[in-house]
Amino acid sequence: MKYKIITYGCQMNEHDSEKIAGMLEDMGYSPAARDKEADLIVFNTCLVRENAELKVHGKVGSYKPLKEKNPDLILAVGGCMMQQQDIAAEFYQKHSHVDIVFGTHNLAELPALIQQVKTAQDRTMEIWEEDRGLLPDVPIRRKNDYQAWLTIIQGCENYCSYCIVPHVRGQERSRSPEDILREAESLAREGFLELTLLGQNVNSYGQDLTGDVNFPYLLDKISAVSGIRRIRFMTSHPRDFSQELIQISAERENICPHFHLPVQAGSTRVLQDMNRGYTREEYLKLVDRIRQKMPEAAITTDIIVGFPGESEEEFKETISLLEEVRFDMAFTFAYSAREGTPAARREDTVPQEEKSRRLQRLMEVQNNISWEINQKLIGSSQEVLIEGESKKDPDFYSGRTATGKLVIVPACPAKIGSIVPVKITEAGSWTLYGEITDNSQS
Ligand code: 5AD
Ligand code: SF4
Repeated sequence: MKYKIITYGCQMNEHDSEKIAGMLEDMGYSPAARDKEADLIVFNTCLVRENAELKVHGKVGSYKPLKEKNPDLILAVGGCMMQQQDIAAEFYQKHSHVDIVFGTHNLAELPALIQQVKTAQDRTMEIWEEDRGLLPDVPIRRKNDYQAWLTIIQGCENYCSYCIVPHVRGQERSRSPEDILREAESLAREGFLELTLLGQNVNSYGQDLTGDVNFPYLLDKISAVSGIRRIRFMTSHPRDFSQELIQISAERENICPHFHLPVQAGSTRVLQDMNRGYTREEYLKLVDRIRQKMPEAAITTDIIVGFPGESEEEFKETISLLEEVRFDMAFTFAYSAREGTPAARREDTVPQEEKSRRLQRLMEVQNNISWEINQKLIGSSQEVLIEGESKKDPDFYSGRTATGKLVIVPACPAKIGSIVPVKITEAGSWTLYGEITDNSQS
């Protein structure tokens, strides 16, 4: 029996897919190289922006002919988009070739649902309306044996006015520090070098637990686990990014000097409407505080253009914020209304063409900044964790610096999964190029 998983969305979803893979392999499934070989295909969906949702409809629809040719093929659709009951119900009706629809809260039920479909020879939809506490531990099939994602907190209670995530991921539920530490220690023993701590807002870790447990406390413990060379975390909410967190990141060699700090907009009025909980000035001060302690740290961000009511002047404030902060990289998005969020009840005032223009302008400014920052790295030596073949050319491999920058080097199969020194020889806005300077075979 063979399976395939098609994943959309953020790292949380990617990690959920590793859990799905783990459960399926426990049931006796093995990965399929091609669609045609699969007995089971799982789609793990996202609905954070309208585009993500449209893609899922298109992709799932395109599997109808395969299902008609092979009626024994099981198609299962889960993830955030299916957690919205009305969307899921409509989806289930529209895509009658889909056998199973499940949500984010009952992910661990997938094996039982598969059995049910096999026994009853009928389709099924099961979604839990509420989260029922932390997801139970399930087996995890990780993407490689040197980098691991580790969930520290599930759910989100920030309620940014544009965002659907709190509505599909439930309340904030922190895993106990003991559980997390046990997982980190066992990963270290297995030889994993890099851990990425995951949560919609890692900075609120521990607030729902008893005792003096917070995110810096957890980092303190994890960074002391021997063998873990790199610790990353995402996502951080700028409102909750404490001085204590900056301090521990600066002190510990294995906490990567890279902070992803979504700013979303440069105008305090828009930020207020977005319910972000900080002003432009507070955000700029936070960046200053980080740079005072860690001048070498990379700071990246997410930005939304065309939020309801965003004027041209307010958009220009976003541009000037980019110029002031000089982010290493920015992920930019055009606002799309998500049903069920407070912002969706407001008029979507910025026309699509204007959103595209703003996006274009933003990317031009940011690409120049990223290019200038990266030029300064030419000639420097960077520690790079080599991940494997580059997407574009198998003669080249890619890896990442501690600051999270993508580096392309000539193919070096023996180095996959090791951290090696690379001399940077060339740089673009998104990518660095270099040569490995350590020629040992390990
Ligand atoms: N429209 C556009 N972008 C959005 N994001 C979240 N919700 C929306 C939306 N409704 C962006 C934010 C977030 C990133 C993951 O997606 O920038 O940080
Ligand atoms: Fe991730 Fe949010 Fe998309 Fe869900 S909706 S996959 S949590 S980005």
